[in-house]
Amino acid sequence: MSATVTPLISATDIQARIHALAADIRRDNPDADLHFIGVLKGSVFFMADLLRAMSGTVTMDFIAVSSYSGTKTTGEVRMLKDVDRGLQDRHVIVVEDIVDTGLTLHYLQDLLRARGPKSLRCACLLSKPSRRKIEVPVDYIGFEIEDRFVVGYGLDFDEHYRHLPFIGTLTV
Ligand code: IMP
Repeated sequence: MSATVTPLISATDIQARIHALAADIRRDNPDADLHFIGVLKGSVFFMADLLRAMSGTVTMDFIAVSSYSGTKTTGEVRMLKDVDRGLQDRHVIVVEDIVDTGLTLHYLQDLLRARGPKSLRCACLLSKPSRRKIEVPVDYIGFEIEDRFVVGYGLDFDEHYRHLPFIGTLTV
């Protein structure tokens, strides 16, 4: 693949921000058993680092949805894998790599809210506010970025670049 990745957010800055987010989440839910649901596959590294930075009781599960092909949104959200456990009376935190148009998170929030959690909050490592097609509440945001296609730290272009420890912009 002949593309260039230009560093945007360093591995050190990502880790520092994640530790701050973990502290914010625990501060807002001081005594709660928190149930984190990572959205596959983009959230895997964020989920792993966020949970290891959390204090108190936490559990984890994963859900998989697909809405993208290449760098263009299809606008259609599909469920690929459901969560393993019920959400009744749990304090749920959805963990997403990036909120772009908002369609994926909106779909997930509707789906998960219908399962009766005690609370439902969302943590997204990245947000591109200028791209929003639908307003979705995001409780914890790592970094707001401009309208650029980014890869690394879980984010892919056709399944490439997820393994990079930093986030960069992709020029194809
Ligand atoms: P949304 O439904 O438009 O908010 O898109 C959410 C999903 O699109 C994310 O979970 C990513 O998988 C993907 N996505 C959006 N922007 C980017 C990007 O810049 N790089 C890689 N994936 C992206």
